[in-house]
Amino acid sequence: MAARISRRQALVAGGGAAAAVVGVPFGLGLRSGGEASSATLLRSGRPLPAAFQVPLEIPRVLTPNRGSVPGADHYELTQRQAEVEVLPGVRTAIWGYDGTFPGSTIHARSGRPVVVRHTNLLPVPTVTHLHAGQTPSASDGFPTDLLLPSPSTAARNSMAASMSMDGMGGNDPHASVVQTSRDYTYPLQQRAAMLWYHDHRMDFTAPSVWRGLAGMFIVHDAEEEALELPAGERDIPLMIADRSFGGDGELIYPSSYPSLIRPGVRAAYAAGVLGDVALVNGRPWPFLEVDAARYRFRILNASNARRYRLTLDPRLGQAPFIQVGTDGGLLDAPLGHAAIEIAPAQRYDVVVDFSACRPGERITLRNGFGTGRMEQVMQFRIARKAHDDSRVPIRLSHPPVPDPARSARTRSFVFRRSGGHGWTINGETFSPTEALISPRAGSTEIWEFVSDFHHPIHVHLASMRVLNRGLNGPGEFDHGLKDVLDLRPAERIRVAITFGEYPGRYVLHCHNLEHEDMGMMATFRLV
Ligand code: C2O
Ligand code: CU
Repeated sequence: MAARISRRQALVAGGGAAAAVVGVPFGLGLRSGGEASSATLLRSGRPLPAAFQVPLEIPRVLTPNRGSVPGADHYELTQRQAEVEVLPGVRTAIWGYDGTFPGSTIHARSGRPVVVRHTNLLPVPTVTHLHAGQTPSASDGFPTDLLLPSPSTAARNSMAASMSMDGMGGNDPHASVVQTSRDYTYPLQQRAAMLWYHDHRMDFTAPSVWRGLAGMFIVHDAEEEALELPAGERDIPLMIADRSFGGDGELIYPSSYPSLIRPGVRAAYAAGVLGDVALVNGRPWPFLEVDAARYRFRILNASNARRYRLTLDPRLGQAPFIQVGTDGGLLDAPLGHAAIEIAPAQRYDVVVDFSACRPGERITLRNGFGTGRMEQVMQFRIARKAHDDSRVPIRLSHPPVPDPARSARTRSFVFRRSGGHGWTINGETFSPTEALISPRAGSTEIWEFVSDFHHPIHVHLASMRVLNRGLNGPGEFDHGLKDVLDLRPAERIRVAITFGEYPGRYVLHCHNLEHEDMGMMATFRLV
């Protein structure tokens, strides 16, 4: 225990930033972030491009390999550095799956296994996690199950060699550490939903995802397809992420050690890093030409720390977002919203009806939690009138919601900053080797979460149903099956949680990636 704290102290403290981290007054983030986010804005070092100048791009859809084993879809992704155009007219170095940001989208079918072979040509170790995958522990991307760079990349980069030795995976005797390539196997015994994949390496997830290691993964099933929701070109994934850029167009990030030889961010950013450029599918403030028809948008907040309150034009009516699903797939019935509040890693599946718009009209997707340029996200341009035979039925699904009456026990989790120890869960920073709890695989429990700051709380291999927010019932955005809870300052949330059926070790953590890297993660063992 003592060793754990001192390791983490060393981690947060790192270099000269140490005293300052400890000295950041509790509540600072609260005041500076207001209702929006408990985090700090990192300003770009160059003029930002005008909004709505570049078209939205839909990430490439990955095709399975030929020679696939029958019964499973096999894919290959190479994690590598690449130079891409994010801001118009300049090149930006990223770390990407196949060198793109976002990574290619994988479309999968419920019940049909997917195997993804990842090859690591980056200068650092990586871990890939399929967020919301019902995945056996060995493929879940436990934070110390490292995929080391290939020997050739490692040789070109002595840093990688030293990092791979430097503690991280090495302190965990149970870590599965391999070099160059690794197969992740996903049984996908789960309902249709929007998942995503991203880096999950212990202590370094935030800078790795910031540099581009994130992609979308969509599971389909027959139930959803029977609904006649908008489909094809009118079913669009939107990965929203904020980033900041330096004078030459490079991504900037306030690491204590820019070479990432050690973890940690500069003291001022310990509550989280906010960018000042809104990217949707990797493009800054893009526009999308749409028909005057219904569209389905699967919205993912892939930001490190930023929360958004998405709004549309009042011309689209009082409740322009018809929510049909969330993290864990379809809701039981559609729900109209004037706005959508989305915390990091959450997903909202919404239908927006542009049929009342005239060609030439422009509708802006705004962010009520943003200031300045971050008040805007993207724009829809109505291009033409069009036929539309999609519909939103009044009954969508019967989500398998966790039943609190079946709860085996109640547990409480306190998420807070702890003077000098980084960010903690029940007073502890992350230990890959000591399990905080050991629930039974497949069981249901009642969990309570209490917080100091904004914490988007994520539990692997589990789905949650919000029972109470404070003294009230579920909040406006709590409907359906959640795997990320938007816990706000000084708030208490009670959920019924059901775990997946695979025993082994998993993590629960804050999905503010800076908090996660600074210790706000716990190992649990399903038995
Ligand atoms: Cu989105 Cu533990 O992950
Ligand atoms: Cu947090």
